Amino acid sequence: MTTMESLIGLVNRIQRACTVLGDYGGGGTGDNAFNSLWEALPTVAVVGGQSSGKSSVLESIVGRDFLPRGSGIVTRRPLVLQLHKMEEGTEEYAEFLHLPKRQFTDFALVRKEIQDETDRITGKSKQISPVPIHLSIFSPNVVNLTLVDLPGLTKVAVGMNSLPPLWLSTKVIYSVFYFPEGQPETIVEDIESMVRTYVDKPNCIILAISPANQDIATSDAIKLAKEVDPAGERTFGVLTKLDLMDKGTNALDVLEGRSYRLQHPWVGIVNRSQADINRNADMMLARRKERDYFDTSPDYGHLASKMGSEYLAKLLSKHLESVIRSRIPSILSLINKSIEELERELDKMGRPVAVDAGAQLYTILEMCRAFDKVFKEHLD
Ligand code: GDP
Ligand code: NA
Ligand code: MG
Repeated sequence: MTTMESLIGLVNRIQRACTVLGDYGGGGTGDNAFNSLWEALPTVAVVGGQSSGKSSVLESIVGRDFLPRGSGIVTRRPLVLQLHKMEEGTEEYAEFLHLPKRQFTDFALVRKEIQDETDRITGKSKQISPVPIHLSIFSPNVVNLTLVDLPGLTKVAVGMNSLPPLWLSTKVIYSVFYFPEGQPETIVEDIESMVRTYVDKPNCIILAISPANQDIATSDAIKLAKEVDPAGERTFGVLTKLDLMDKGTNALDVLEGRSYRLQHPWVGIVNRSQADINRNADMMLARRKERDYFDTSPDYGHLASKMGSEYLAKLLSKHLESVIRSRIPSILSLINKSIEELERELDKMGRPVAVDAGAQLYTILEMCRAFDKVFKEHLD
């Protein structure tokens, strides 16, 4: 595994290639081998209600502070976050697919670029768009992992839409209050259907985030997971805000699987509080404080080694790698279908191909052949 590119890294590259082709990676509907390939590749989607702690969990997993924050709907395009483990001592940097020549070492600029790039597609209207932003982070402090951050599910307006007309005026007031920039009223349904295009895929691993200071029965993430993955086979339950529970209560019923049973164990998390964020508390220090919280907790001490964001990252990385490994034969057959399709396409155009479109197809074909070769190496 040390000389070979990691399987997760390899799948990252195919996912990026599919995205470059245009219609892929986020609700694409085109019927071709590349779309089938995109569909077949496992992804980890981060799902949860607004303020459940999604951004915080992602930042803890990365060990950096880089996501836009604020009130209202902050994440308005899927963010495909690809983490690449580097050797100790390597300087961390980030790279966007849409800015391939630029390496970001200042993570405040990464945050700004995510905001700007979101606005570039959605305009200032604050609408949402299914076109993903691809961000890669290279760091010694991460594990190999790809995660997709999605807009938060909002309950308020979903409830509003089921209210009788009598409540129309309340509905209007709510819309103005929650969407002051004039977001369309359908935004809540739009978010839900966008999230569903990811979690409906049988190959999607659902990272379901719920806050511990709310009844788990009301968790948006769990409601959705229950619907699309009733057996709990591809859902990882994450419980945030353990430190914010009322004194004298604990979350053992959830963490030990009695409240809602999943095939994978629940992971409890303690992220930075708003006060920590305001005073710019260091992320690495936050990881250590989280570790201490569990190690010294009278309630969770017996679970300590299986709690926290670092453990979660390792768990997901291991799981993702094993899922990919088990799918190598079917991924290979889809890659070969893509190769055949591309070859047919090129034949139609007639060789030698001089036009841009043909040249691009040719590059992709070469890439597929390369993927075919490295995946086969992983079979041995
Ligand atoms: P998102 O909307 O789901 O992305 O949620 P955020 O990650 O932005 O978190 C919302 C708020 O909850 C922020 O003020 C965080 O500081 C706070 N928060 C998230 N997780 C925790 C936690 O585990 N403990 C505490 N005390 N605060 C948290
Ligand atoms: Na929730
Ligand atoms: Mg967020």
